Amino acid sequence: MPENNALEKINITKFQQDLVAWYQAEKRDLPWRREQDPYKIWVSEIMLQQTRVETVIPYFRRFIEQFPTIDSLAEADEEAVLKAWEGLGYYSRVRNLQSAVKEVAENYGGTVPADKTQFLSLKGVGPYTGGAVLSIAYGLPEPAVDGNVMRVISRILTVWDDIAKPSTRKIFEKAVGKLMYKKDPSSFNQALMELGATICTPTSPACLLCPVQNHCQAFEEGVQQELPIKTKKKSTKKLRMGAVVLQASDKTVLIEKRPEAGLLANLWQFPNVELPDGTNPRTFLETFIENEYGIKAAINPEKLIEITHVFSHLTWEIDVYFGTVKEKNEKDRARFVSAADVETYAFPVSHQKIWKHVKGMEQ
Ligand code: ADE
Repeated sequence: MPENNALEKINITKFQQDLVAWYQAEKRDLPWRREQDPYKIWVSEIMLQQTRVETVIPYFRRFIEQFPTIDSLAEADEEAVLKAWEGLGYYSRVRNLQSAVKEVAENYGGTVPADKTQFLSLKGVGPYTGGAVLSIAYGLPEPAVDGNVMRVISRILTVWDDIAKPSTRKIFEKAVGKLMYKKDPSSFNQALMELGATICTPTSPACLLCPVQNHCQAFEEGVQQELPIKTKKKSTKKLRMGAVVLQASDKTVLIEKRPEAGLLANLWQFPNVELPDGTNPRTFLETFIENEYGIKAAINPEKLIEITHVFSHLTWEIDVYFGTVKEKNEKDRARFVSAADVETYAFPVSHQKIWKHVKGMEQ
């Protein structure tokens, strides 16, 4: 709970009315808002984590078309599921979703559990997803607190705790619990999200258009630009990588499946390796290819392209080369595939860019 007495100053009933009436009148027409199926709401909430609404919309439509039910996703091939998620990032989200959906199919007769403890026990379902799905699909009065909602509430109630600290979320969950509009938790939670996305934005909140301006302590004190408090994370680590598009004489290229666990698990990629400082990329990559795949490669000296990919905790700077091999050797998770087939595999965005570049060269 905020340590100030902001909650006592607020007329909760009036706040709820102003917020929800605004939401009903102004809400964006988003594809998941036309759905009541808890499975579809769940898919949308997983996609919307760390990803913008505009990016999610086409992915959501395609995903639901391809996997319209719990059973269809539970039974789907993981390759197809990753392909449908290709480009959205944070791929563990969809691997966890598929595991959780399998559990719902097996243990809950294919119905998303409306019980908080049961739903939160599923893989990838944390307090935010739990609250969002249970409130939106089942109308339960559970808070759904993500970064947007923390920003909105930090301003309304002048909460000065650091929202970068994981323990701070609980303060906001308690506050949202007190403010909750129990007649319509779905609209209430989505109204807070909508306000954060469209009005109560990070850098210049549009307070003059805000439906709850006269409930907002930060506006009253003129401190809306100073909230929320969010300490900066340490700068991310940089890795210099070398990657190679390796072509055999029949024009097939070598791709391999990433390990089952960790970053970008089970996605496909072109052979690549971290380049230690001071190494010659070309000779280092030739040695790597020989050791890793048992293939003698001739790598062109000119770099094809440099690609930078920023993850939340890490940046890859990839120098990309082209090489040829006389003999193929398919080991473990590595295989030679035709140019036409490359695009049927799910790649991380950085490796999609590599392929796009190579294809562009051939035209
Ligand atoms: N962000 C997270 N969940 C959302 C939702 N249901 N609608 C709009 N934006 C969201």
